[in-house]
Amino acid sequence: MFSNSTGRSGLPNVSVDGPAGAGKTTVARSFAQEVGFRHIDSGAMYRAVTLSALEDGRWDVTGSDDSILVFLARNLDVAFDSDPGGVQRVLLGGIDRTEDLRSEAVEEAVSLVASSAEVRTALMDRQRELAQNGGVVMDGRDIGSHVLIDAGLKVYLTAALPVRIARRLMQRRQNGTAITWENAASSVINRDRIDSTRAVAPLKPAPDAVLIDSTHLKRCDVVRQMKFMLRDRLNENRGG
Ligand code: DC
Repeated sequence: MFSNSTGRSGLPNVSVDGPAGAGKTTVARSFAQEVGFRHIDSGAMYRAVTLSALEDGRWDVTGSDDSILVFLARNLDVAFDSDPGGVQRVLLGGIDRTEDLRSEAVEEAVSLVASSAEVRTALMDRQRELAQNGGVVMDGRDIGSHVLIDAGLKVYLTAALPVRIARRLMQRRQNGTAITWENAASSVINRDRIDSTRAVAPLKPAPDAVLIDSTHLKRCDVVRQMKFMLRDRLNENRGG
């Protein structure tokens, strides 16, 4: 089954897509730790381009010229590391910018950056490169549908809107942002709208993705389900 879907390590890749606040990154990180795969948060790459553009200062957020964004995406010096607790750290130009990637300014502008077709192409190439050896769990919006179409296991993780808003609110507050429910709600709704209506690679489940609704599930339950699925896929593969 994985004849076309494994990298050189012989291990499949796993994609985790879904809307904002569904818990993709947390689930993907725990799952990767438990199965010994490498976790890549592709959203962090879009955030990294956004942060670089905001700091660069030449990008006009209200304009239609994305040439600076494309330049920054093509030359992005991004690296993923993890701290002793296994939490992903994102290095930009060798400097740990993990917290800055979650800032209000980045949060507001990132969907716009992610709707540029050329930025997406540049980042997709990087994402494929990172996953070429297999054994990667990558989370995002278009990983199963566009980036890793041969992934051995594709999960589309969602949750009811109020739950996603509550999760986003908690996450932002933990990061030290003073944010109201109304702000968190409009940010999630706005993000969903842009991500799912953009012309290129809009958010939608890959036809062969397994849908998991985490509205009433704890993270460990989702991770457990995914481990069963991966084991089944690996057994199918071995058993032919
Ligand atoms: O998952 P996140 O909130 O960190 O994603 C940040 C933004 O990047 C969000 O607007 C969706 C976009 N994104 C995307 O379009 N494709 C991906 N593979 C990952 C993220």
